[in-house]
Amino acid sequence: MDINPEHPFTVEFQPSGLRLILDEPITLLDAARQAGLMMRADCGGKGICGKCKIQLLSDLGDHPVTNSDKSHFDQNSIDTGFRLACETVVRNNIKVYIPQDSIISSQVLQVDGRLHKMEVEPPTRRIAVSLKSPDLEDLRPDLVRIKDDLNQSDLTADLGVLRRIPHILRQYHWKAELVIRDQKILSAGQPTGNRFVGMAVDVGSTKLACYLMDLESGELLAARGTPNPQIAYGEDIMARIAYALQSEENAKRLQTILFDAINQTSQALVREAGFETTQIADVCLVGNTAMHHLFLNLPVESLAASPFVPAFSEAIYPSTDDLGLKAMPGSGVYTPPVIAGFVGSDHLAFLLSEGFGNDQRTRLGIDIGTNTEIAMQKGAEIVSVSTASGPAFEGAHIRFGMRAAPGAIEHVTLDNNGKAKTQVIGNQTPIGICGSGILDAIAEMRRIGLLNSRGRMVKEFPGILFDGEGKPYIQLSQGSQPVTLSQKDVDQILLAKGAIRAGIDVLMDHLDVKSNEIEEVVIAGAFGTFMLPEHAMRIGMLPQLDLDKVYAVGNAAGTGARMMLISKSARLKAENLARQIRYLELTVYPEFPMFYARGIQA
Ligand code: FES
Repeated sequence: MDINPEHPFTVEFQPSGLRLILDEPITLLDAARQAGLMMRADCGGKGICGKCKIQLLSDLGDHPVTNSDKSHFDQNSIDTGFRLACETVVRNNIKVYIPQDSIISSQVLQVDGRLHKMEVEPPTRRIAVSLKSPDLEDLRPDLVRIKDDLNQSDLTADLGVLRRIPHILRQYHWKAELVIRDQKILSAGQPTGNRFVGMAVDVGSTKLACYLMDLESGELLAARGTPNPQIAYGEDIMARIAYALQSEENAKRLQTILFDAINQTSQALVREAGFETTQIADVCLVGNTAMHHLFLNLPVESLAASPFVPAFSEAIYPSTDDLGLKAMPGSGVYTPPVIAGFVGSDHLAFLLSEGFGNDQRTRLGIDIGTNTEIAMQKGAEIVSVSTASGPAFEGAHIRFGMRAAPGAIEHVTLDNNGKAKTQVIGNQTPIGICGSGILDAIAEMRRIGLLNSRGRMVKEFPGILFDGEGKPYIQLSQGSQPVTLSQKDVDQILLAKGAIRAGIDVLMDHLDVKSNEIEEVVIAGAFGTFMLPEHAMRIGMLPQLDLDKVYAVGNAAGTGARMMLISKSARLKAENLARQIRYLELTVYPEFPMFYARGIQA
């Protein structure tokens, strides 16, 4: 960007004190991004979500109030400088305050999952060789010596490794440690006997769950979750796709910031476990199809509009170098198959980890997110659907909605007068409510009769309050900034749970399964872990079942990625499972509208 010397101006962000010098007008959201501040922008900067709230600390008069500002702030807030960052264009020196809840905060990043006992058979192996040195009677080239020693005549290596092998062999008296995948020598080095490691990553649209594994023992050495930095470019996958479609540079940026975050996390993990990143010999990445395309920097046009088809669905193994991942030179990144435009390798990893396809039981697997993927197995058949449940369970479009982070109400009970008792993450003053809390609140409102079966708040019920426009709401906490839940918030959740229930009903209808025939329901993801199944049944999100048939399995996609990292058979099984899973498009299923209309009832 050419700097115009006549008009550079400075944006100062508080409370961080960061300053950014600009030469042309841009929105405050873009300015914050350029300054490296990870602001929330759940709607991707469209002025809809209201999450990019900032306060202008100077020059209020220069910043007109937009209609979106008016819809998110009352007059008093506007007068004191509150605006939406995505709607506010800066042209002059300015000081801006970014409230804590507008910054992407540390969420409860669930990395736990249950890993069933399995045989470790890493696709990438470390092999020590001790070779006979050449003499006038034995003139075999170095590589042939290795092939003969390992009895593997088809071994190959890239030029860089071929250059290195002669030095290593001579320096270490014809001994070396080789890292081999299939028929390829990935690296050659000093014989150390050190363990070598791999990284499995579940690339979620809101979080990255990273696992460092010992590739020889299969032991989990360290794990960590971190927010997906792409959130700054839109909470919603479609907003990120739209951003990537604007230019190749944007698409590359989404890929780069993602791998920067993975590199930072993997560096922290290897340090914690006493390794170096150069000892990471193999990587497995899973994600939904949009994430898969964005991390591989594939064209995303085909995911932007119906009929939403992936560019390809097969497993591939690009090099870590190609993707910008810090790891052992020559190492690769296994990316398992995706199933359809909205059913990715994370869903496959979930089903793999839970043994779908291993037996003939009638089972339901649900991974709740902005898009909820649901699979039903009956006998040898496995059918998957994706339903647009929206981000309401992650707090978007809910007035006090937030992700599961300190200060979020995670559980709610109501007494018969509608008075709330809450449990707050971090035991602190509540500042918002996360998905499990909202689900509890609605189930409780139903139980005491405060919400009728059509999902309407009963206005005469004790505990109901009314806003300035006469719209009903309930109050969940006390204090100057109480957390409330309005009829509008309830409507958002009913739409979300209706989409999930309609997906389940379509699968049951399609496979002719009655609810009492379902032998098991496994629910993946953080929301599934915190939600109470009885409440999910009370509001009709799940069919009525024995409670002991329903269990949460944590981050099952991460578990599946770990399995594929350490086991060749798990990769083979995943690739076979991908062929076995049949994708069903809900929007063309004739009964879907009827199931959906029924699903959104309370
Ligand atoms: S309202 Fe600004 S990003 Fe959504």
